[in-house]
Amino acid sequence: MLIKGELLYEGKAKKVYRTDDPDCYLVEFKDDATAFDGLKKGTIARKGEINTRLSALLFTMLAGQDIPTHFIEQTGPREMLVKAVKIIPVEVVARNIAAGSLAKRLGLEEGTVLKRPVLEFYYKSDELHDPMINNYHIAALELATATQIKEMESYAWKVNELLTGFLQPANLVLVDFKLEFGLYHDRVLLADEISPDTCRFWDSSSGEKLDKDRFRRDLGGVEDAYEEVLRRVESLCG
Ligand code: TMP
Repeated sequence: MLIKGELLYEGKAKKVYRTDDPDCYLVEFKDDATAFDGLKKGTIARKGEINTRLSALLFTMLAGQDIPTHFIEQTGPREMLVKAVKIIPVEVVARNIAAGSLAKRLGLEEGTVLKRPVLEFYYKSDELHDPMINNYHIAALELATATQIKEMESYAWKVNELLTGFLQPANLVLVDFKLEFGLYHDRVLLADEISPDTCRFWDSSSGEKLDKDRFRRDLGGVEDAYEEVLRRVESLCG
């Protein structure tokens, strides 16, 4: 059993602790929810537990399909052991259907199926409010090497394909999602979390939103939506 050490980092939804093994961190998931850069604050009951479980199940599924991830094991209801990665400060967003900021930016009606999926990069910077950037900005700011960018792109496409197919039998449409990657002994690993905080999931028959948009847009039924996604994903995992 690893010993929880110094708090390394506290974000809006998670805390990361050192352990007595320099190659492992403990991640603790919180119920706190923020939106619009922390302007809107709240809590979502059981979110920490649900996002821990969902991330554990989805990272395990992806690892089985040759996506290298930071996930080692779930060590408690809201706690997981991960490889001690250094997060690359680039958020990778993949989109299949126009929603959220893309719908707004390009004047598309939310729900418009994109002719081809889209990948976007955002610079992870609270002060700058995570501006959208491209490969040239990433190179100019030395946020990642050209090879690392290629790897992140190729993993993001593969995750899109795998997750979309995986969720389909549970009547969940993967509208879009955000990934973060980290460096571990010079290798790029998928990191952070995969949850209704970081993905848009719509029910395939009703189009009902089953993700954090219920919180962002005050749609009600936030907790139920998170519980529902967990139930459906668990049913896929047997
Ligand atoms: P967006 O449409 O607001 O740009 O969001 C795109 C996807 O990224 C969506 O699935 C939600 C996720 N996301 C995060 O995980 N963190 C964030 O801070 C934001 C803005 C979006």
